[in-house]
Amino acid sequence: MTRTVYVNGEYLPETEAKVSIFDRGFLFADAVYEVTSILDGKLIDFEGHAVRLERSLKELDMASPCSKDELLEIHQKLVELNDINEGLIYLQVSRGSDGDRDFVFPSADTKPTLVLFTQNKPGLADSDASRKGAKVISIEDIRWGRRDIKTVQLLYPSMGKMMAKAAGADDAWMIEDGHVTEGTSNNAYFVKDGTIVTRPLSNDILHGITRKAVLRMAEEAQMKIEERLFTIDEAKEADEAFTTSASAFVMPVVEIDGQQLGDGTPGPIAKRLREIYLEESRAAAI
Ligand code: PDD
Repeated sequence: MTRTVYVNGEYLPETEAKVSIFDRGFLFADAVYEVTSILDGKLIDFEGHAVRLERSLKELDMASPCSKDELLEIHQKLVELNDINEGLIYLQVSRGSDGDRDFVFPSADTKPTLVLFTQNKPGLADSDASRKGAKVISIEDIRWGRRDIKTVQLLYPSMGKMMAKAAGADDAWMIEDGHVTEGTSNNAYFVKDGTIVTRPLSNDILHGITRKAVLRMAEEAQMKIEERLFTIDEAKEADEAFTTSASAFVMPVVEIDGQQLGDGTPGPIAKRLREIYLEESRAAAI
């Protein structure tokens, strides 16, 4: 099916949507993005994604393409036009183009490029992957130092997924100075003796919107949380592990670097958090 996508104020068939070859997103990865999930035809945590987008833009001194209300309207219209019940909506804002290649930013009145498209993913909430759990490997984290900004510089995370695939795993957790930073496209956690451990927020990791919601829900459910640095060896010795992201919610991890966690099936805390997250997010979706 041909999707209807959004480019700079227009709703178009995907085959007709165009962006300049001089666009700085294309030439310099000078762009930021958001991925918002859709359940029951509604947006999950739109507010969180909109706030993080504003922050990413501000950190890069990039202009906002439109107001939050306009963004919400575009999201909802695309979901409706493409008849998405479960899936994702991708948004990208780049610094635009002034018609040539130049390392220097174009003048401040250059219009940013705003692109959105949907991805239809029936069964996203009740996925086989979440019932089985994921296998992860560990790799070195060689990304730049501002991972808190959600830029489209995704070549290394993409290579990480390929390394995982080559090793017969599903994903990779990255390690810097002996400590786990995060997964290629998710935040990382392990559970030991009932305590959930995850890396604290800093410029070293993306401030996950799902992370924030899940930690709040875990706290409300009286679960113990420790935000601290941790090693991959601690995670390998854990009772269970999981990741969080808008695209996979709470995803149990059942194996790290070939070492099985617990009995090799999704752990009770990850399963419970997934249930709570889906239930509460659905109730608050817009
Ligand atoms: N990725 N860390 C990284 C490096 C990510 O790319 C993501 C999200 C997360 C989780 O953030 P959130 O809970 O806000 O989705 C953490 C998206 C889903 C992607 O690139 O497709």
